Amino acid sequence: MPSSLRRLFERFRATTLALAAVGLASFLASCGRAPETSANATGKPAAIKIGFLVKQPEEPWFQLEWRFAEQAARDLGFTLVKIGATDGEKVLAAIDNLAAAGAQGFVICTPDTLLGPAIVAKAKASNLKLIAVDDQFIGADKQPMKDVHYLGISAAKIGEAVGDTLAAEMKKRGWKVDETGVCVSTFDELATARERTDGATRRLLAAGFPASRIYRAPMRTPDIPGSFDATMALLTQRSEVKQWLVCGFNDSAVLGAVRALEGRGFGADRAIAVGINGTDCIVELEKAKPTAFHGSMLLSAKAHGYQTCEMMYKWIKEGVPPPLDTRTVGVLITRDNFRQVLKEQGIREQ
Ligand code: GLA
Repeated sequence: MPSSLRRLFERFRATTLALAAVGLASFLASCGRAPETSANATGKPAAIKIGFLVKQPEEPWFQLEWRFAEQAARDLGFTLVKIGATDGEKVLAAIDNLAAAGAQGFVICTPDTLLGPAIVAKAKASNLKLIAVDDQFIGADKQPMKDVHYLGISAAKIGEAVGDTLAAEMKKRGWKVDETGVCVSTFDELATARERTDGATRRLLAAGFPASRIYRAPMRTPDIPGSFDATMALLTQRSEVKQWLVCGFNDSAVLGAVRALEGRGFGADRAIAVGINGTDCIVELEKAKPTAFHGSMLLSAKAHGYQTCEMMYKWIKEGVPPPLDTRTVGVLITRDNFRQVLKEQGIREQ
């Protein structure tokens, strides 16, 4: 076959295979079955099957959590089923599907913590073990469901570290308190979010910042557009503020505010912003010209993705239940150290 014809043939074959793969994936999706993403090293179907449901699969934090869960599946030899469950209906359908597919348990970051009792009931009825990750379930009495196994961040402490960093950076720049404002991008519906922003606020107050200059910008949705809109509204109301400090419950909450500030002419010279997650701001830290985004509290995606799966695996295999409440810590990354820290934590090659 002449080489040009062979190239054409190979291209045709590659396209056909790609289309077939897409077709299979959408067929599985239309059947309501999530494609299984990893099996054990032998390639044989693993006896243990674990689901991993996340509320915002597009957020880098959850993608990284999944990546570490996949690593656990490979190391320990179980089948992992990753499911993006963005609302209550999807969560309940996913639990049914997991049970039908022979899973024994699942790890979940629920799209709504108030679904806690419904998820617990469904998991019990389906005989599935359950670990909540990131967002702790809230019971009918509006209190955290402490009898449901949970792994999450030490939210208040991490928020406090954000407040301390902002206060220290402001001091370094010699900004006057009466010319500076604090923008707190809040999402109080979520307990872990509220604890983080309350922690940051507490530390700014302790550093001598007056409560009257700490402004809350409530986000309608927990994402960049939600925070962008909330901050825009605040900036319009507070046009007299010369410099801004910014905190929020995660990187998206802070990045939205940074974009809004930029739109009003506040760059790195007139605003300091500190995020939480450390995973959703890498592009921001890599920008050649520094933006107002000073740094972020890097959380341990490995503990949240790998360790939760390992706990679930041991629970299923050896009957050892995990601790009821595990909390993880954060470490500040900035433009100066993020490459090094990400490398040390196995998040980045270089
Ligand atoms: C919540 C947030 C995520 C991340 C996790 C960490 O779920 O929405 O962005 O901060 O907590 O546990």
